[in-house]
Amino acid sequence: MTTTAHPDTPIGRDYTRVEGPLKVTGRAQYAADHRFPGMLYAVPVGATVGKGRIRGIEAGVARGMPGVHKVYTRENIGRFPRVDEKTAKLDEYRPPMEDDVIRYYGQYVAVVVADTLEQAIAAATAVYVDYDEQVPDVSMDLVPDEEPAVESERGDAQGEFDRAAIRIDHTYTTPPETNNPLELHATVAVYDEAQGFTLYESSQGVVNHKAAMVRMLEVPEDRVRIITEHVGSGFGSKLWPWGHSVLAAAAARDLGRPVKLVLSRRMMFHNVGHRSNTRQRVRLSATKDGRLTSLQHDYLFHVAREEYHKENCGEATAFLYSTPNLRVTYGSARRDIAPTTSMRGPGAVPGLYAIESAMDELAIELGLDPVELRLRNEPERDEGANLPFSSRHLRECLLQGAERFGWARRDPRIGSMRRDGLILGWGMAACSWMAMRLKAQAQVELRADGTVRVASATQDIGTGTYTVVAQMAAFVLGVPLDRIEVALGDTTLPPGPTSGGSMATGSLVPAVLAAARDAVGRLADCAVRAGLLEAEPPGGWRVTDGRLHGADRPPSSGVPFEQALRTAGLDRIAGQGSAEGSEADPAFKRHSNHSFGAHFVEVTWEPAIARLRLSRVATVIDAGRIINPRTGRNQIEGAIVMGLGMGLLEETSYDRRNGAPVNNNLADYMVATNADAPEIDVHFVEYPDTVLNELGARGIGEIGLAGVAAAITSAVHHATGVRVRDLPVKIEDLLASGAAG
Ligand code: MOS
Repeated sequence: MTTTAHPDTPIGRDYTRVEGPLKVTGRAQYAADHRFPGMLYAVPVGATVGKGRIRGIEAGVARGMPGVHKVYTRENIGRFPRVDEKTAKLDEYRPPMEDDVIRYYGQYVAVVVADTLEQAIAAATAVYVDYDEQVPDVSMDLVPDEEPAVESERGDAQGEFDRAAIRIDHTYTTPPETNNPLELHATVAVYDEAQGFTLYESSQGVVNHKAAMVRMLEVPEDRVRIITEHVGSGFGSKLWPWGHSVLAAAAARDLGRPVKLVLSRRMMFHNVGHRSNTRQRVRLSATKDGRLTSLQHDYLFHVAREEYHKENCGEATAFLYSTPNLRVTYGSARRDIAPTTSMRGPGAVPGLYAIESAMDELAIELGLDPVELRLRNEPERDEGANLPFSSRHLRECLLQGAERFGWARRDPRIGSMRRDGLILGWGMAACSWMAMRLKAQAQVELRADGTVRVASATQDIGTGTYTVVAQMAAFVLGVPLDRIEVALGDTTLPPGPTSGGSMATGSLVPAVLAAARDAVGRLADCAVRAGLLEAEPPGGWRVTDGRLHGADRPPSSGVPFEQALRTAGLDRIAGQGSAEGSEADPAFKRHSNHSFGAHFVEVTWEPAIARLRLSRVATVIDAGRIINPRTGRNQIEGAIVMGLGMGLLEETSYDRRNGAPVNNNLADYMVATNADAPEIDVHFVEYPDTVLNELGARGIGEIGLAGVAAAITSAVHHATGVRVRDLPVKIEDLLASGAAG
């Protein structure tokens, strides 16, 4: 059987989010919105020291307070077995309250459960913990614990660098950043003797979450169900389960009542991960005409005392530019700091801040336009992996971005460009992000009322997954989107991919298309058996506008699928689709698979009042076929605004005395807001990448953030003459230089 796309393909068309009405009317149910009769409220107690040991916990007062049902400590919560990496992924493998050792400030030491949130908060403050306290090491100096390891190497980078006449050698640092999704992490745990656990979670990966909980709660597979209908973003902090989830679940089982546990914003700064700080030395050498002769990228990052998460800054280094000599090394420093995690564009984002900053500095050294420098170093193939690119159009991104931004009008002299009394700074940077597919399954159900239901246990983390999944089904079935229902975020559905690494959409394509085609095939068999249609036509079956017909015959010759179902006496028919991850795909492995892009930014600088603003951005992205340009642009816009935060605002500061994040709230930890957002022009160059999937769609969540901070600091340099190599840019950096003169 063959089916082909509906001629008026819904792929590549703008659709507003199908769940939009639920969200704007407040009917969308996020994890913490779930409430049940008899539900209790849990509030964890976090360590107030950054290192040490618990000598004892005095919970008597708290236990006697109004509304308190129970105060859990490691004495009475029970033991949770450790999850091994093959079973499920976690960023903190040590289960909560496993021992009495304090490894970071805020580590869970007790949990109070009470009738109301207020009672639980009050009682949590009355739990007295006696610590044997030590001074934690939360130093931001990155001295590696061990000799850095080589990540990628070709030629003789150091030898070439030593001989070169034109070279730059600079060190760039990025601070710890804290993932601050709008929606707080939360678990509403319901336990039932018959059903087991139902956990309402704010999760980027319900399938993995379930696997971890099955192990930690020691129950059979079919006794844990994870539900995540909507997510108010996660930015990586919700990829893998954190300790609060198992605490809520254990309390619900023990008390026989539903338990809600919502983290406070303050807790979000130490209980659900953060992006490591990084220190990156970049050495480049080049010929006089701007060809890179060597590139060295040596990067360091901090990690928690017992957990390891690599901040993979070298992600794009080995293939972004052509150079015969290259060496990338990495190392880490253990600190008494909460576990680190993925934060949007993990690795590549800080990595490209350093690499792209260095490229800008090299362009200045050479007296060459920074766009031209990049064009001159465009590789033919991935020189790191020695593979052809599946689809690389960085050159076009650079050229089209320059065109859209008006880059040709740039006067490279520092402080030379002005508008309305403001000094303008123009900067640019390239970006890249990996493309991959995770294993995925989906089900497509055709129903006798003419509607379609697509189901997969993946998540919509605010990115538009509900909408693009509906578009994928519509692509095969030709049914309008308002007749397609999409069910996600529930482990009773066929297992779907984690919403991470910008991989969910690309991973779902083969599974959803296969499921839709399987449903069509099954329907056709029924229609033939019911005598509605003749035996399979030579060209196979096709569905056009919801009508099943022979591919070689007009749609009018066929029957609407709902009629076929009714004639066959069926209420519905379901097709299944599944696809292995790209790792198992030989064509994928024969290529280097990445997305690319270029950002052009303008800052305005008002020296008299030391005001720096990001005023304008033009971004061109090569992410293959864009299934829904509207939600796609939205992803890139959001990422650019996050890049503004990285460049100018975000930094987590830790108290050296006790390891507490001192700016643990949204007043002191600044994230970019609407008022900060510049005018943003997003454009996609659309080259379907059919190595990745049939529709040629790669992911777009993270690439928009990569490179933005480098473009901003380059623009700041252009405006002020100050090169900021330690993010974020602070006004003091600019004042200290006399730039405000
Ligand atoms: Mo993304 S940091 O993989 O959620």
